[in-house]
Amino acid sequence: MDVIIKKNYEEICNEAVRIIHESWEKKKNLVLGLATGRTPIGVYQRLIELNKKGEMDFSRIITFNLDEYLGLDESHPQSFACYMDKNLFQYVNIKRENIFRLKGKPEDIEKHCQEYEEKIRAVGGIDLQLLGVGRNGHIGFNEPGSSLSSRTRPKALTQSTVEANASLFKNKERVPRYCLTMGIGTILDAKQILLLASGKEKFYAIKGCVEGPITASVPASALQLHPQAKIIVDEEAAWFLDRKDYYKWVYENRLKF
Ligand code: GLP
Repeated sequence: MDVIIKKNYEEICNEAVRIIHESWEKKKNLVLGLATGRTPIGVYQRLIELNKKGEMDFSRIITFNLDEYLGLDESHPQSFACYMDKNLFQYVNIKRENIFRLKGKPEDIEKHCQEYEEKIRAVGGIDLQLLGVGRNGHIGFNEPGSSLSSRTRPKALTQSTVEANASLFKNKERVPRYCLTMGIGTILDAKQILLLASGKEKFYAIKGCVEGPITASVPASALQLHPQAKIIVDEEAAWFLDRKDYYKWVYENRLKF
């Protein structure tokens, strides 16, 4: 696990975009796993800029979204489908047939989840998975207690996640209580993982993710098992890390190895 500590939100977004762009240069039909929430918005803005400047072509890029609220239509303004259109897809030259997302109202939930896993396999797996992290350490919507080998499935949200996401809904009562999410096992199958976190409300999650024991109680800690995981955080999110200076030293000297 590489821990990259940057000064602020702007810098973590720049670093993530640099890595995504580099991966795309090596593989133009890059398979990207995408996240929602406030954290990746700066990344998407920069990707849009690169696309506009002609420096990153999305025509062969394939995407899979991590999760979706159960019960919300694609057209619902708070659905993650709508989020992706609003924050990225409508501004870049991605092909609609290359966008894969979990449905909020599938006819058959189990079948839909299985098919999603099969689609990921059929394109050769996810090359690069972008992640945020919940305050309680969830990744995707894998809440604490999720099996570390879980696959795409429905999950009940915790009360704290419902509260954290309530500001995006007009009324807390309207925040869905259930979701579909890629499992932790699905996420760990990605060839490369970038987890981004900014702000002091994430320090507990980052401490557990990076330096805690690997435990289902902090789902992000499962990334310690991944050979190509990069945790890109700002100073506030890194605040509680014991080996902060070591991570900075390793990063600054990486070219000398
Ligand atoms: C959500 C999403 C996660 C996201 C997390 C943090 O509920 N399902 O994918 O990483 O919460 O969101 P934010 O970046 O807004 O803090």
